[in-house]
Amino acid sequence: MPIQKTTRVTAKKQASALSKEEWMPKKRGVRPVQNLRGFKDHLPSEQKFWQEVFSLAQTLAHQYGYKRIDTPILEPVQLFKRSLGDFTDIVSKEMFTFKDGGGENVVLRPEATASIVRAYIQHGMFTEPQPIRLWYWGPMFRYERPQAGRTRQFYHLGFESIGDNHPIIDAQHILICFNFFQNFGITPLIQINSIGDKEDRKEYAKRLTQYYKKSQKIICADCKKRLTKNPLRLLDCKQAQCQPVKAEAPQIIDHLGEEAHEHFTKVLEYLDEMEVPYQLNPYLVRGLDYYNRTVYEIFPSQESAEEKAQSALGGGGRYDTLIENLGGRETPAVGFSLGVERVLLAMRDAGYTPQDAYAPDVYIAQLGEQARREALKLFEDLRIRGFKVAETLSKDGLKPQLEHAAKLKARFTLIIGQKEVLDNTIIIRDMESSIQEIYDRKKTAVELAKKFKELDEIQDVAENKDEEKDEEKDERDDKQADGEEKES
Ligand code: HAM
Repeated sequence: MPIQKTTRVTAKKQASALSKEEWMPKKRGVRPVQNLRGFKDHLPSEQKFWQEVFSLAQTLAHQYGYKRIDTPILEPVQLFKRSLGDFTDIVSKEMFTFKDGGGENVVLRPEATASIVRAYIQHGMFTEPQPIRLWYWGPMFRYERPQAGRTRQFYHLGFESIGDNHPIIDAQHILICFNFFQNFGITPLIQINSIGDKEDRKEYAKRLTQYYKKSQKIICADCKKRLTKNPLRLLDCKQAQCQPVKAEAPQIIDHLGEEAHEHFTKVLEYLDEMEVPYQLNPYLVRGLDYYNRTVYEIFPSQESAEEKAQSALGGGGRYDTLIENLGGRETPAVGFSLGVERVLLAMRDAGYTPQDAYAPDVYIAQLGEQARREALKLFEDLRIRGFKVAETLSKDGLKPQLEHAAKLKARFTLIIGQKEVLDNTIIIRDMESSIQEIYDRKKTAVELAKKFKELDEIQDVAENKDEEKDEEKDERDDKQADGEEKES
């Protein structure tokens, strides 16, 4: 029970923001150092988005049985040459490579799958029960032309399952991606294809080359190179002049061997079973050499898939020969990576508002030196008891402290003034109603706990009412539909 209720006190809700002129350095001649092109800071205001993506990835990883792995950012160049392929865009033009102090050719990793396979072989993970399910989160580097959704440092979150060739794993990975995006209110467009096994691709590449040779004069310069170096990538071309040629090209799906065909059919059946929507894209080949059989890419919408090559939110597929190519035993594997920056853009486009992990439960305001000391102790007491507490103990004056509490969206502000110091009391101010009540200071934690419990109960009642209303509406709709059916 409060000792006493005081009248409402209104606090100004927002502290005024400083103008650019006020914070820009005035001194001439000293040019501030800027970040590199294509490299971005993740500012505090964006962290709640990052935090939410990370914690969802972590939760899904735990639920589906994936263990976290971190590999180094710097790797030997050879790792990616051998795994992604010399003629891929990444290896031929996008890697940040340099010689280290010892003269070794090293590279800032452009992706993590090759590193994970290296770690799998190096640490003898093949001796453990298979499949090995791993997930990761970290920065990747590609020297690309920066633009919206494309940077030179970007984050991947990825899942890899090594040691099992069953199509159900391919389908479950796609399901994980689907669930991930649904959580943010995004229904992604998943495009899927099968590029068969090595022999299927060899045969298909021959047919594709024969077909494209007939149109050699009209295709773009890049496609002319692809024709000899990497024919499958002809299907990746977005140049207008190549589109009519591509539209009539033979499709790999018609050239799959029996096993690859059956594998793909099963993947699609499992997706149908789980009602995961997908679109078959016969031109989808992915830009890395290590893939075989299932390949897929995820887009925020149909338009984004058609218009912008840099809009894919993620991609993945099978890489059953990569482990052997990197010196391990023959071991099937499958995985995917999502581009976290693009996920954040899609979340914003979908109007998703993340919870503010920093929003405090309570804010402690104090007036006078003695009150400041009491506030310091109270902060520790509440923090240890699990409350999220904010303060600006160095500040004087109640008004700026209340304004700060409002800006941080604290639900309650605890006020200790000179009178409260002498009485051993505390004022608890409800920041929504502005009602202030005075309590015995020793009971602060108990009273706060009661207040939060009451708020939870009010919320539950409101949610139950909403649910009841929804149920009533469903019933009415069902009855109306029944009536209409009988009439017809
Ligand atoms: P990836 O398609 O090269 O696949 O990259 C996955 C995702 O990373 C892309 O779909 C995109 O969202 C994001 N991404 C790629 N480049 C950039 C960039 N320059 N700026 C911003 N985002 C970018 C892989 O890397 C494979 N390791 C995926 C995989 C895992 N396959 C099997 N397991």
